[in-house]
Amino acid sequence: MTHAQELPLHMRRNGLDPVGELAKARDGEGVVRVETPFGLPAYLVCRHENVRQVLSDPARFSSVLRPFRGLDELDADELAAMRAGNLIGFDLPEHTRLRRMLTPEFTMRRMRRLEPRITEIVQAALDDLERAGRPADLVAHFALPVPSLVICELLGVPYADRAAFQDRSVRMLDTSLPMKQRAAAQREDRAYMAGLVERAQADPGEDMLGMLIREHGDELSTDELIGIAGLLLLAGHETTSNMLALGTLALLRHPDQLATIRKDPAQIEPAIEELLRWLSIVQSLPPRTTTTEVEIAGHAIPAGSMVICSLPAANRDSAFIDDPETLDITRGPPATSPSAMGCTTVSGPRWRGWRCASPFPALLQRFPGLALADPDEPADFRSFSLVHGLNSLPVTW
Ligand code: HEM
Repeated sequence: MTHAQELPLHMRRNGLDPVGELAKARDGEGVVRVETPFGLPAYLVCRHENVRQVLSDPARFSSVLRPFRGLDELDADELAAMRAGNLIGFDLPEHTRLRRMLTPEFTMRRMRRLEPRITEIVQAALDDLERAGRPADLVAHFALPVPSLVICELLGVPYADRAAFQDRSVRMLDTSLPMKQRAAAQREDRAYMAGLVERAQADPGEDMLGMLIREHGDELSTDELIGIAGLLLLAGHETTSNMLALGTLALLRHPDQLATIRKDPAQIEPAIEELLRWLSIVQSLPPRTTTTEVEIAGHAIPAGSMVICSLPAANRDSAFIDDPETLDITRGPPATSPSAMGCTTVSGPRWRGWRCASPFPALLQRFPGLALADPDEPADFRSFSLVHGLNSLPVTW
């Protein structure tokens, strides 16, 4: 059995594309039974309209995960501490309480304040890439350091610690590792964050952690601050760095699309939107649990079931968008919003942070002749990760 066959259906890829079986599942049954990488049974929702159905009904599709095998070795206190502050695992009203405190940190005004620093970070990374000489690895010199530095700056995490937290993030998302090892990476991460939170509590700085402590220090427990900081660090750099690497690869493989952006740099905004849809780098949304029996695409799903939504399948659903397999940055916005980041939360922090800070234009401007170092070489995709990505991307210019 090859590695690809061991992966659950929702994590399999054919390069940048979802595998054919996933499209078959979407266009056929709509919902299929899968086993998660941890051996748990789940229902995989593949059609766009059904993904929207799940996301728009948090009362019947709860974000609170049932304790599952592999986690049962942790005692109740440790489990509660690990969950604290992790927005992804909460329903209303807990979710709203945490979101309310975080939202002001992601306003356009706050993001704009960061822009000059982001520009410096991007230019320094481009200098570094150029110095590395042709061919150079775009992941190591650009796609990974830029978002890491930005999120460090935003949160107040010392950049010198990046190698350690990047390594922990990769382990936390790598489903080929036994649950024990992933839980160990999470524990290390919490211990690291606890040190940062303690320092920030003693002397809150101008960064996001400092702001949260100054403005909400009496409402947030230390465990919650640790959870929020950990989630933002992980969510902020893993997604954005893989999006930059895969987005560049996709554009280099579609020279007509790249030429459109080069001719009119204003096209970068719709291009990012289309790349988010077409790549759907987050393999599936965080699982939901049914609170009652539900019906999806004509299938009766019992209460207490795990439901996983496939973003790559839903975002290439022809019922959602015409000619879904084609990367077309000029197609204009779809009638309903895409779900590369999840529909319900799409207008929240993630969009804004990403949009106003895209480093694509600077990359394309600095290297007008940017190209794959060896177009015949298969791309170095990483497998087994909850976020699709590349280990390296050798480029020339
Ligand atoms: C290309 C970039 C990104 C993608 C594709 C992405 C994708 C996602 C997805 C799929 C979810 C789950 C949504 C759901 O279950 O409904 C999520 C949640 C989240 N992401 Fe991102 N994300 C990106 C960038 C970021 C950045 C830069 C940050 C922060 C600096 C961030 C912070 C969060 C937070 C806080 C949540 C939880 C939101 C909530 O439950 O209300 N993300 N993201």
